[in-house]
Amino acid sequence: MLEAREAVRNLPTYHPPLGGRDGLRLDFNENTVGCSPRVLARLREITAEEIACYPERVPIETVVADFLGIKANELLLTNGVDEAIHLLCETFLQAGDEALIVVPTFAMYQISAAATGARVITVPAGADFQFPAADLLSQVTPRTRLIVVANPNNPTGTVAEPASLLEIAEHVPQAAILVDEAYFEFYGQTLLAQWRSIPNLFVARTFSKAYGLAGLRVGVLTGNAEYISMVSKVSSPYNVNGVALACLPTALADQDYVNQYVNQIRQGREELQREFARWGVRYWPSQANFVLASFGQSKTALIQSMRSRGILVRDRSGDYGCEGCVRITLGNTEQTARLLQALRETLAELGVKEVIAK
Ligand SMILES: Cc1ncc(COP(=O)(O)O)c(C=O)c1O
Repeated sequence: MLEAREAVRNLPTYHPPLGGRDGLRLDFNENTVGCSPRVLARLREITAEEIACYPERVPIETVVADFLGIKANELLLTNGVDEAIHLLCETFLQAGDEALIVVPTFAMYQISAAATGARVITVPAGADFQFPAADLLSQVTPRTRLIVVANPNNPTGTVAEPASLLEIAEHVPQAAILVDEAYFEFYGQTLLAQWRSIPNLFVARTFSKAYGLAGLRVGVLTGNAEYISMVSKVSSPYNVNGVALACLPTALADQDYVNQYVNQIRQGREELQREFARWGVRYWPSQANFVLASFGQSKTALIQSMRSRGILVRDRSGDYGCEGCVRITLGNTEQTARLLQALRETLAELGVKEVIAK
């Protein structure tokens, strides 16, 4: 009988709850208004011939490198950051190795690392999900070959100090350190190009969030040119589809679109956090396009009540340390107004009392 490798048999299954998502989708940290209209126009121009050809990644990598201010050989375009994580694990991990991740965090780190047969060691975040730099370092062994940190982190929205991440990378030169900056645009701080002095550092970015291209699947892994060439060996030359490649330069060229969206998210984030404070709801200050909040035993009722008002939010209570927690993605100004209205009605319905008068 055919049998999958033991590491694969033992993998947890990651089933994002994508079904039945009718309503305002504040449950997946996506862009809630869609990509730039210029991208859509480019998409509509795509010819049958373009679709018939195998995609050419390299010219678009030059465009992205120029945009990021790095060299084309310091990056690899990937099928979303998901693939960047997968390729990094395939390149640097094997059975007997150890990968360190801080929990709670994005689920794919554990899956891609464990699939290689490596041992995944989870380091719990500190109080209020603070980045546990000292605990992480205390778990390093000569077998540590990969450390992955989302910055800002998902699902908490919290951040690690750049200096602390660099210190870890410097301390563990035998390991690839991936800083996943999927939510960079909503935060503004980056470790991009720091691999020039700390070569084992990698930085990933996605076009799924601020750019609204999640359905096209495109991300980018950046790092030391020599190491990126190793990771590229594992990748299919056609890992990013031709439609995504055709649209990416247009998406990058329309920075006004991205900026105005990001500004609305940042403002909405402040408003939502103020609203939580007003109702005495515990939340964790976020640097991403979502906020995690704790509703304790009212969590399920809150999710249902929001859904009955046409707003989808995400139950994160299964994540480490997130019992009773719900993650709410921010949308544009109008959507935030809708969110806040539904939230007020829901909290009042659940019998939560305002602690700070308006
Ligand atoms: C931290 C983090 N990294 C990566 C991803 C996936 O990004 P992509 O769509 O580029 O695969 C997500 C998506 O939610 C995320 O939260």
